[in-house]
Amino acid sequence: MSEQNIISLTVDGGVAVIRVNSPPVNALSFAVRQGLWQAFENAFADDGVEAIVLICEGRTFFAGADISEFGKPMQEPSLVDLLAMIEGAPKAVIAAIHGTALGGGLETALVCHYRVAVPSAKLGLPEVKLGLLPGAGGTQRLPRLIGAAMALEMVTSGSPIGAKTALDAGLIDELAPANGLREAAIAFARKIVSEKRPLRRARDLPVEGATPELFSEFRKAKARKFRGFAAPETNIQAIEAASSLPFDEGMKLERRLFEELRAGTQSKAQRHIFFAEREAGKIPGLQRDAEIRPVGKVGVIGAGTMGGGIAMNFLSAGIPVTIVEMQQEALDRGVATIRKNYENSAKRGRITAEAVDANMALLNPVLDLEALAGCDLVIEAVYENMDVKRDLFGKLDTICKPGAILASNTSYLDLDEIAAATSRPESVIGLHFFSPANVMRLLEVVRGAKTDASVLATAMKLAKTIGKVAVVSGVCHGFIGNRMLAQRRREADRLILEGAMPWDVDRVIYDFGMPMGPFQISDLAGLDLGWSKESSKGETIRERLCEMDRRGQKTGAGFYDYDEKRRPTPSPLVEQVILEMSARQSIERRAIDDEEILERCVYPMINEGAKILDEGIAFRASDIDVVWVNGYGWPVYRGGPMLYGDTVGLAHVRDRLSHYASIHGADFLPSELLCRLADEGKGFGNL
Ligand code: 3HC
Repeated sequence: MSEQNIISLTVDGGVAVIRVNSPPVNALSFAVRQGLWQAFENAFADDGVEAIVLICEGRTFFAGADISEFGKPMQEPSLVDLLAMIEGAPKAVIAAIHGTALGGGLETALVCHYRVAVPSAKLGLPEVKLGLLPGAGGTQRLPRLIGAAMALEMVTSGSPIGAKTALDAGLIDELAPANGLREAAIAFARKIVSEKRPLRRARDLPVEGATPELFSEFRKAKARKFRGFAAPETNIQAIEAASSLPFDEGMKLERRLFEELRAGTQSKAQRHIFFAEREAGKIPGLQRDAEIRPVGKVGVIGAGTMGGGIAMNFLSAGIPVTIVEMQQEALDRGVATIRKNYENSAKRGRITAEAVDANMALLNPVLDLEALAGCDLVIEAVYENMDVKRDLFGKLDTICKPGAILASNTSYLDLDEIAAATSRPESVIGLHFFSPANVMRLLEVVRGAKTDASVLATAMKLAKTIGKVAVVSGVCHGFIGNRMLAQRRREADRLILEGAMPWDVDRVIYDFGMPMGPFQISDLAGLDLGWSKESSKGETIRERLCEMDRRGQKTGAGFYDYDEKRRPTPSPLVEQVILEMSARQSIERRAIDDEEILERCVYPMINEGAKILDEGIAFRASDIDVVWVNGYGWPVYRGGPMLYGDTVGLAHVRDRLSHYASIHGADFLPSELLCRLADEGKGFGNL
């Protein structure tokens, strides 16, 4: 698009209106910056212009700097220079905000002398989510307008605030009617001129509330949340600088910190995930206009933790759900849990009390599968057993109307075998939610061999509607996520037999940035998943612990001992069980260092990811990263296992795998794809 089309300048009775139209989100690309520079110069030079309104077309005010330009040579004018020019304008500049004023977009609004916004507008500095800090004066100007405490919260959370909150905080000066932003901004501009109000420059204001205690207490309170991340601390330092340094010095510091973060691996990883999440929604070969089947009513089978969580996604999005259980008691329990979850959200202020009732009113609990006849989509979340699922799908096939989509939440089983139990395999798909299903953002969408394009397209659209990040997986045991998880599981189990203790493995994985280690997860999920007293032979550590009724947190003991507040401590008893098991299997225990633990847990996952890619189970390496960041808590600042492989270097990963293969055997043999990329000096990002 040419510059002329992107930026227009019109004059309306002494007020210049600079209008920006750079879809999709009016990012401040080179072309936009250049066009704005020219338009402002023209408006300054026009003696007939007394004030200037800056407004955007399309769905939003500027959504930020153009992230796709990061890492490329900067083309002048820079955003910082452009904003300094606007702030120094000889005439009042008024930002007219709708949609989301984010990052560089809000920073642009901050250099305007006044700000007017529609009530639905959202304003925020989300740079921290990209591993950055606001790099165009945001950390220096925002605290001058709203005070240090609120600015700290905004830059470190990255969460936007609504227009009403912004008005109360002094971030905007007036609310405009929803459908009259342009007119309201022009009227506001005229008022400024007629009242001869000063050009209010944020840079000239003092920072309120910046006490040393504010910063020390903030750091203490957020330490856990910010664990491992570089950007939050840097954001805090920049806000501190706003109060301790003159404005221009603060700006210099902000720029230096921004450049350091931008060049670092964390921001690179977080930007990678930003684009990867958006890319994951695009299915190669699927027409953009592929038919989308209407989904007005959803059925969920199973009202346990999983089924209930799945149902909540749809209820929250205003889609009616019929939920089916076999026993009245289980059904009542499931419905009560859903209500309790909503009530807890309301208590925390996340939803209103009315929303609790509105969501519950959309829920239709039943004991009869026949009630699913009118549903457009039915998702089963029953016991992981092929015979059970095949039987159920056979029944659904006869009950559900033609065209209805039949989905399985299976996390391991062969979807094609399930689909074969119906006369409509083209309408069968896997929708693999992650527990807790109402919270975790990931949805693995499993396409069977016969799944129709319209069913896939419908699932992707629906995922967006319910706020999930969807990643398409082909059919294989465990799909993308659990197939890779099995690699880590196997090595963790071996490591404790060879010489490490569960708490050693957990500490290394936790320090890497995961929320929990594999043994902490086992204790949380229950060691007795798939275990039975009758068939237990005491042959594995897990079986031994279950036999001792150490079945995890629920029994007060598992790999760890737990106190009444569920705080874990390493268990001497478990240590004994492990030592005995090593001896029984004639394994000579040895000291295992942290590096080996990490490499043996993580590198086989990368290797498995390469196989998943090579087999076409995942479309792209970045899809695998999205799965791990959103479904398993992989630290976003490490960008997912595949980007992590690229970061440490695939040649290194291959060499270490080969080394372990020479000791521990074929499980470590590097895959063909991994070897090829390593030989060529490439990474997964080059595919
Ligand atoms: N730069 C480049 N491209 C961007 C972008 C940006 N800042 N923001 C969004 N896009 C692109 C997306 O990649 C996507 O492209 P695609 O269609 O080719 O996949 C397209 O715009 C639409 O984006 P979404 O699918 O995310 O659209 P939504 O309507 O769901 O969301 C949004 C819109 C809330 C604006 C969301 O895109 C968003 O959060 N964007 C990022 C905002 C942000 O982080 N801004 C700060 C940037 S860093 C910065 O400003 C540094 C400064 O301080 C110097």
